[in-house]
Amino acid sequence: MNGIDKTTDYIQSDTLDLAAIIKSSQIISGEVKLRDLLQKLMKIIIESVGAEKGFLLLQQEEIRFLTLEQLSQQYEKGLITVDGKKSELVIQAESYITKQDPVVLQNIPLEKSKDLSISIVQHVAHNLNSIVLENASKEKLFSGDPYIIQHQPKSILCFPLIQQSKLKGIIYLENNLYTGAFTKDRIKTLKILASQAAISIENARLYNNMENLVAERTEQLNEFLEQLEKKHEELQIAHRKLQDAQAQLVQSEKMASLGTMVAGIAHEINNPVNFIYIHAITMMEDLKKLNDFFNDLLSEEKELSDFSAKQFENFFISLADITNGSERIKTIVQDLKNFSRLDEAEVKSVRVSEGIESTLRIISTQYKNVTFIKEFQDDPEIKCRPAQLNQVFLNIMNNSCYAIETKQKQIGNATPGTLTIKTFVKNSELGISFTDTGIGMNGETIKKMFDPFYTTKSVGKGTGLGMSVSHSIVANHKGRFEVESKTGEGTTVVVWLKINSKA
Ligand SMILES: Nc1ncnc2c1ncn2[C@@H]1O[C@H](COP(=O)(O)OP(=O)(O)OP(=O)(O)O)[C@@H](O)[C@H]1O
Ligand SMILES: [Mg+2]
Repeated sequence: MNGIDKTTDYIQSDTLDLAAIIKSSQIISGEVKLRDLLQKLMKIIIESVGAEKGFLLLQQEEIRFLTLEQLSQQYEKGLITVDGKKSELVIQAESYITKQDPVVLQNIPLEKSKDLSISIVQHVAHNLNSIVLENASKEKLFSGDPYIIQHQPKSILCFPLIQQSKLKGIIYLENNLYTGAFTKDRIKTLKILASQAAISIENARLYNNMENLVAERTEQLNEFLEQLEKKHEELQIAHRKLQDAQAQLVQSEKMASLGTMVAGIAHEINNPVNFIYIHAITMMEDLKKLNDFFNDLLSEEKELSDFSAKQFENFFISLADITNGSERIKTIVQDLKNFSRLDEAEVKSVRVSEGIESTLRIISTQYKNVTFIKEFQDDPEIKCRPAQLNQVFLNIMNNSCYAIETKQKQIGNATPGTLTIKTFVKNSELGISFTDTGIGMNGETIKKMFDPFYTTKSVGKGTGLGMSVSHSIVANHKGRFEVESKTGEGTTVVVWLKINSKA
């Protein structure tokens, strides 16, 4: 078997360029990306070994069922891995001296290739020894190989890549210009490069696997993080809903008991006040009659007549005061009734100005240093739950008056602040604006003012529920809030309600 399993000593020897080999070897060892490594490796081999074309075949793992005996044989030769997967040689790089870039990672099974001698490669894989043919077409052992018959190749060098006595791959080189192209020195060069290549390929594969593993794990981690984030968001939403519900419950209970109390007091006062009022009116009429009678009787007696007139005048003044006073009490009672409007939990068509007026009368008694200005430009009837809207107006006005008084205390100036309340229609919405000259709010407070339990008031002074409850009442009316504020200058809160909406 001339030329097989041994190198050809008699072929003219080139001088071994050690410096070039070391450099090439360094280039190969410096590459960790499989694709780049294979490209560089093929170029270097083709050039430094003097091949016209070359192939690099690597072991491909594939599940096959083998007998125990086959298994141990294949394992011995490194053709099978520990986990029982059969290895198969596949072409992973192909390079031609005439072409610029080697083609790599094609994964073509050896048996499918028509560009090399399959039997030579199989022979090397089986025996784990290199084959050097000076003139392959004349070589008897492979004379039946379809590729050799068809292409009549000249010089062939087929070399196993072995690492830890296991086959990792095969380098197949051809030179069809010359016979005996692969000289002893060139084979030596290839040997040196191949041993480095085997290590580098193994490293690159490990690196590649590691990269894939890292990418896979990172993806899993990201997925997990995303899920975690989602869960966190869901929890936050649930928590917020719970807080809202709790806030509403607290506030509506508060308002309901306040409403019941107010309605009760109003009811109790209503009867005696009516009583006083009616009697005062009746007394006034009776007194007039009595006065007329006395006037007639004492028409002759000037002195007595003057005295009687003076007495009657005092009675009239007192009775007028009683009538006025009881009238005022009647209005207050009506306001209280309007405010609580417990009988109006249902939807009603009302003018909101009525609710604003009643609320204003209640609140104005508490804040003496505030001037209230009303401008009801438009005042259409809207369908709403009046008692609930009154709660909203009360909360807003309370905040405004508190802000005005706080400012007065801060600057030590008792000049009254103003709260201007306007109503106006725009695009089938009714706007109710409350503009105060109070301390105003910064951006942070504006953002949070509707949050349940958010308050800037000192401990015990505010629950921080007023605006959050108002917000949900307005939202239930399909309305919305608009807030504008400037620190130190004042605030405008606008409630927008749909004119035709069903609350
Ligand atoms: N007109 C306003 N001017 C300045 N700050 C305001 C005004 N309206 C609301 N705020 C700010 O918004 C916060 C939240 O208001 P909200 O009515 O919800 O609670 P509160 O007034 O603090 O407490 P509560 O209404 O329960 O007494 C207030 O503490 C205040 O900081
Ligand atoms: Mg408030």
